Amino acid sequence: MSNSQFNDTDHPVGEATQLFVNASQVVTCAGPARARRGPEMNDAGVRSKAAVAVRDGLVAGVDTLGELRARFPDAHEIDCRRGVLMPGLVDSHTHGIFGRPRYDEQEMRAAGLDYMEIARRGGGIHSSVRDLRARSEDELFALARERLTRLATFGATTVEVKSGYGLTLADELKTLRVIARLSGALPLRIVPTFLGAHEIPLEYRESEATRRAYVELLVREMIPRVASERLARFADVFFETGVYTVDESRAILTAARGAGLLLKLHADELTSSGGAELAASLGATSADHLAAVSDEGIEALAHGSTVATLLPGTMLFLGKSTHAPARRLIEAGVPVALATDFNPGTSPTPNLPLVLTLGVSQLRMSVAEAVIAATVNGAAAVAMADRVGQIAPGFSADLALFAIEDVRELPYWYGDNRCIATFVAGKACHTSDLGLT
Ligand code: NIG
Ligand code: FE
Repeated sequence: MSNSQFNDTDHPVGEATQLFVNASQVVTCAGPARARRGPEMNDAGVRSKAAVAVRDGLVAGVDTLGELRARFPDAHEIDCRRGVLMPGLVDSHTHGIFGRPRYDEQEMRAAGLDYMEIARRGGGIHSSVRDLRARSEDELFALARERLTRLATFGATTVEVKSGYGLTLADELKTLRVIARLSGALPLRIVPTFLGAHEIPLEYRESEATRRAYVELLVREMIPRVASERLARFADVFFETGVYTVDESRAILTAARGAGLLLKLHADELTSSGGAELAASLGATSADHLAAVSDEGIEALAHGSTVATLLPGTMLFLGKSTHAPARRLIEAGVPVALATDFNPGTSPTPNLPLVLTLGVSQLRMSVAEAVIAATVNGAAAVAMADRVGQIAPGFSADLALFAIEDVRELPYWYGDNRCIATFVAGKACHTSDLGLT
């Protein structure tokens, strides 16, 4: 399938030639245009005396200032004020289209109710579904525009956004149209994912037959329609005990693949159920969560090309003391990405640098590994590693500038927002009052 609407031509490019000068570090993440594994993840390409040239929205050179001034004598110079210049962050897993925030459930969990128990009582995802169905496209667009803009203020320039709180053909299409409108309205790059299999809707939970009917609806109507209207690039399923079974997940993703969509899977989030193995066997682009992944699951991922997208903010917010085994995944050679999982139930944070903090402090990743996980490997998790995620000639000039002197400060000042500005294809996407001349 040609996804023409996702081309870079959607984005206006910045002024003809720009030089980003006076950065204390340029973190290039330069290297092969694919997910990094094992020791490769430990090299973020930190350069302390480099400037970056951008022409027509693409990186044209990374070199000493003298060299670049000689090559581009008429370039407009942007002063990085001794900050750290990085590839724009890639948030490869969000559920950004929802209505009411679910702060009530946070207190319920504090009082001892489990996330899945809240769902069994009709709360959780079901509560967001009732809410989203009652809202208009315009209302959802306005809410999501503000929320995705918050993600950009923390340094994200590419954001994957899932549907999944509609769960009827009309409400899923409504959600995906909101995502398409946001793509045109925001300077961010947005990657749309169809998650009609986020839950079995309550009205289909009565019997095995109605449950099967919803899976049939997904396979026979929703997926073909979403694919023919080109409203999504990926399809995803919440494969979890009490939600979709292994056979249902396989059937849905196989249909999606047949319709030309790329695959993602919510895998082994809360219970170990063979999610990683299923994602690897289907050739999914990413397997996400993996807090409960088994040894066999790690093994399966190590032998395939699926990116393991870890979402430690979710475990933190749910009050769990376990985390995905990032070290074992990396040591087995599995490419690891980090993302926010921004959603109203399990991870309402727009702060991807905070997720890097969790990556280092909780998942025991090095800073370089965490940086690669939120740039190159995040890009690979949305099948864009050939265009974004590194500052290297020919890549899109998607950049994030932080008010820190050393990249190790990014996960260190946890919860703080040091992002001064972001650029997409060389054009300012977000600028903060931390100041940039
Ligand atoms: O990634 N696990 C399923 N989906 C989300 C939670 C969605 C919700 O609770 O609204 C997640 O954690
Ligand atoms: Fe999720």
